[in-house]
Formats: sequence, C-alpha cells, structure tokens
Amino acid sequence: MKLGVNIDHIAVLREARKVADPDPLDALSICKLAGADQITIHLREDRRHMHDSDAKNIIELSALPVNLECAIEPSMIDIACTLRPHRVTLVPEKREEVTTEGGLAVTGAQPKLKEAIRRLQAEEIEISLFIDPTLEAVRAAIDLHVEWIEFHTGKYANIYAMLYSNLAKTHHTITELELPRKVLKQMLDDELRNLRLLSCDAMELGLKVAAGHGLNYQNVQSIAEIETIEELNIGQSIIAHSVYTGLEQAILDMKALLIR
Ligand code: PXP
Repeated sequence: MKLGVNIDHIAVLREARKVADPDPLDALSICKLAGADQITIHLREDRRHMHDSDAKNIIELSALPVNLECAIEPSMIDIACTLRPHRVTLVPEKREEVTTEGGLAVTGAQPKLKEAIRRLQAEEIEISLFIDPTLEAVRAAIDLHVEWIEFHTGKYANIYAMLYSNLAKTHHTITELELPRKVLKQMLDDELRNLRLLSCDAMELGLKVAAGHGLNYQNVQSIAEIETIEELNIGQSIIAHSVYTGLEQAILDMKALLIR
C-alpha cells in the first residue's frame, strides 16, 4: 500500500496567522526520509491554503512524485499544465466548504471535465478522478480513459466515527447520530464491502485505485486491507499527530498500519 502525504494542512496552519511558518516545503525531505511514496497538495482556486509559489516550489524540488489536486476550471488546468506534476487529481471545489466534501460529478459527460482531461493528457500528465464510491462513477471514469480513480472515503470515515467515537461530523443529522450501534456496524460493513467490490471491478477494468479523505490512525486498517486499493492519500490525521510526535514519526506510525 503506497502512502501519499497530503501536506496542505501545514499551509492551513501557516495561513491561520498569515505568516511564513510552517513552510510546507520543509516537509518534503522529512516525508522522503520517513518512507512516504508521494506528496499530495491541493491548490485551491481561492488559494486559501497553498499558494502558487508553494505548488511551484514543491513540484520543482520534491524528490517524491507530486500529486496535484485541483478543480476542473480552465485557469487551474493552465497552471497544472505549466507546473507539470507527476499526477493531477481532479477534485470538486466549493468556496464555502472546509474540505473536499464529496467526489467529482463524473456522470453526464461534463464538457469542462472532458476538456481538462484532454489538455492534461496532451501534456502526458497522469490523471486521477476523485470520485464517490459508486458503480456509475467508476463506469464514467472508465469511459473518460483516465489512469487512476481515488475513492472518497468520507462516508466510511464518518460512519466509523459515529460508531467508535464521539467525533461524528457536524453535517450528520441527529437521526443518524442516534442510530443504534448494530445499524451503524452494518452500515460500516456495507461501506467497506462497497469499497472492496468497486475497487476490484475498477482494477479489473484497468484503473488504478487510490482512496482518501478522513482516514486516520484508528480507521485506516480496514481500508488498507483492501488489496485492490494501491494508494492512500492522508493529510489531516498525519499532520495533527505530527504536532505531538514530529512529522517523521507521524508518517512512520501511519505506514506501520498500512502493512498487509
Ligand atoms: N484525497 C483528496 C483528493 C483530498 O481532497 C483530500 C482532502 O484534502 C485527501 C485525500 C486527504 O484527506 P484528509 O486530510 O482528510 O486525510
């Protein structure tokens, strides 16, 4: 199982004070040393975390492959084509969201999405689509001839949190929070089964499968056991843990959970 470390959250901390530190660039050598396989960054349209200069420097200086997440807007695709990261993951973006709340709308053959893919492919940049784990989305990704899909694991992570901790996310309704544990356990098993079956289908149809969002030291192992998922992209939990352990140890601790 490969690990992409999403270092946006370092920029989130920096932007909380609009100062120069911590600089996400300083994380590159530590990620490499700790055995991460990839650096993942999200250049948002509003640049509220990563700036253009961060993305440019990280892509130029990283010894690890860089996976640049960006929206399908033509101006963002211009930047991706100029910076030429190893991979571009196309994600949906809403100004008002705190984090990427769901997968990209891939069904219905959006002309903007097709054009973004066409342009990135012309630059020979590997493409991944961040999608919800549904059969329709997998089929649409196959029709779009991309190399990778990344399953949004937010639903899995939220059910896990409701079942095992009090960390249930606020966008769940009270009714969901009050569900009996037996029902929640069934929902968790169903979601894991869904991810397992879909990643198997996707792989058999020629796609490489990644997953991410909301994965942490408690919930990651069941996802890591799915052999048809090749890579996990994890940010928030690793950077949060690193506040106490340092970044290198936080990555090592996560990697230890990914052995299967
Ligand atoms: N993968 C993608 C495509 C994302 O947008 C995010 C969130 O930034 C992640 C993975 C990592 O999510 P988290 O920070 O919850 O680990």
